[in-house]
Amino acid sequence: MEQALAAASEGLLQSIERKRGGSKLADAEIEQVIADFTAGRTPDYQMAAWLATVACAGMDMRETAALTRAYIGTTPACPIRIPGRRTVDKHSTGGVGDKITLVAAPLAAACGVPVAKMSGRSLGWAGGTIDKLESIPGLRLDLSAREVQQVLSCTGMVITGQTAELAPGDNATYRLRDVTATVDSIPLIAASIVSKKVALAAEGLVLDVKTGAGALMSDPVAAAELAELMVELAAQFGIPARAIISDMSQPLGFAVGNALEIREALEVLQGREVPGVSELGRLVARLMLQVAEPSLSDESADKCIGAAIDSGEAYRTFLTWASAQGASPCFVDNPDCLPRAARRDMVRADRSGWVAAVDPRAIGQAALRAGAGRLVQNSSIDPGAGIILFARIGTRVDSGTPLAEVHHSGSDSRCLEFAAAAFDISPAPVPAPALIQRIFSSNHEDQP
Ligand code: URA
Repeated sequence: MEQALAAASEGLLQSIERKRGGSKLADAEIEQVIADFTAGRTPDYQMAAWLATVACAGMDMRETAALTRAYIGTTPACPIRIPGRRTVDKHSTGGVGDKITLVAAPLAAACGVPVAKMSGRSLGWAGGTIDKLESIPGLRLDLSAREVQQVLSCTGMVITGQTAELAPGDNATYRLRDVTATVDSIPLIAASIVSKKVALAAEGLVLDVKTGAGALMSDPVAAAELAELMVELAAQFGIPARAIISDMSQPLGFAVGNALEIREALEVLQGREVPGVSELGRLVARLMLQVAEPSLSDESADKCIGAAIDSGEAYRTFLTWASAQGASPCFVDNPDCLPRAARRDMVRADRSGWVAAVDPRAIGQAALRAGAGRLVQNSSIDPGAGIILFARIGTRVDSGTPLAEVHHSGSDSRCLEFAAAAFDISPAPVPAPALIQRIFSSNHEDQP
């Protein structure tokens, strides 16, 4: 046993040295590094060094594909199917207030496209879908492959987290990346996201790559590189994919924080227009319908999506799905029973003018300190904590106008300072940034 551990550590250290020296890593070497870490044969601190070296030195396409395979491991892909229909998935690179999965998945499912989604937890300052959904009492997000199939067959949609069974390598490294500043690496992100899609045997994929101050890839050129790489990587694994580059220079919608975002997503499914969330949610759902059925026109897809909202079908789909994954009847009967934070405090404008910036990282930090995220690995989350924004870039405000309401436990007052610091007010009008910047397919770029 001791010898096996020593050999695994030695192999990992050699791999770090080779990557640091500019070598390409062999497929078998990458596979061994991930398998050893997943099996507990190498310690966190050595794996953190390997991830940091990869984040600095990068990986080419072959290495990234090998890392994707290594993350999936030897477990065969879970054949999630509804006979005669293509199962699709969507994934965002993450951002502040990004609740698009909670809108797009039920919309696509309500339009008859099966959605099997493997989501992640929060990374850095950005919230994670799994953390958001955990604020729903009773909801289970650690489904076995068999349960994934059962829920999908019953409700047309299923959402689960990475588990030791599905994409175990991603599961093992993801939490470590979150606390070692190794999140914003193009190959690490691409392998992490695509491995989850291959593990659930997705037959179509929509990627929402964020750019702007609150995105992992703040630079639009890097965001486009990541989008193209993921579309190509997915194609190598036989998954047709489309990618959107969307704005994250301010939080998406008004709500930031777990239960607060669930409430906002449910309101959008009931027809409320929320800036950013409604438009992007409908676009992602449209592309999901089109990767499932490539001949479907934009008009037909949009009509179906509009009808799913107007008829209440998308909202009902969310509740039926939540119930199938164990949500307590109290939530299904009255979604407003979601947890709430103990305190609410208002942040107000200190002068009149136009909102020129709502810094998403500062809002993300405010939400983290309010209790909505983790500052250290495995710490607990206050599901009711977060921020409700009242102003977005371009909003006209007077001195004293409420800008944000901070929902918190009162244990870290810096949440209020971060929230106040997020806003910049200009004496002149400021235009709102474009939400959708580019749309890619495997072989071409579409007009947004
Ligand atoms: N989402 C993931 O699943 N993985 C990443 O690395 C980034 C976003």
